[in-house]
Amino acid sequence: MNMDELFLAAQKAAEAAYAPYSRFRVGAALLGEGGAVHTGCNVENRSFGLTICAERTAAVKGISRGERGFTALAISTPDSPDPVGPCGACRQVLTEFMAPGARVRFGGSSPERVDTTIGELYPFDSLHDLARKKTP
Ligand code: THU
Repeated sequence: MNMDELFLAAQKAAEAAYAPYSRFRVGAALLGEGGAVHTGCNVENRSFGLTICAERTAAVKGISRGERGFTALAISTPDSPDPVGPCGACRQVLTEFMAPGARVRFGGSSPERVDTTIGELYPFDSLHDLARKKTP
């Protein structure tokens, strides 16, 4: 599974988005350590703050299937021409299960893609380092 294929999975996942309030669909695809792909979409709520992002949907789906680490992430935002990166909350949640060097690609409806890493998106993660030191 390469980043192009993972991005295609994210594009497909965006089709299931439940976004009647923002009309902004998001799809995410996480590559599990064993090679399985876990996808997710945003799921909104009439109480707006209860909305869950596509990235966290994908992460909780993967973890609930027994996955414990992800090596790559792709995000598709088909309702924006420009690439849209993950929100701050998702960056922190993803770092729980991704090494800093894990690849991330995001893109919208234009051909432009951003290729980066989770460590670049969430740098100076001292809380993560502290947790790692304390975990047996
Ligand atoms: N959203 C995501 O699913 N992921 C992001 O990284 C950014 C925002 C969703 C939340 C909401 O349903 C809609 O996009 C507009 O913010």
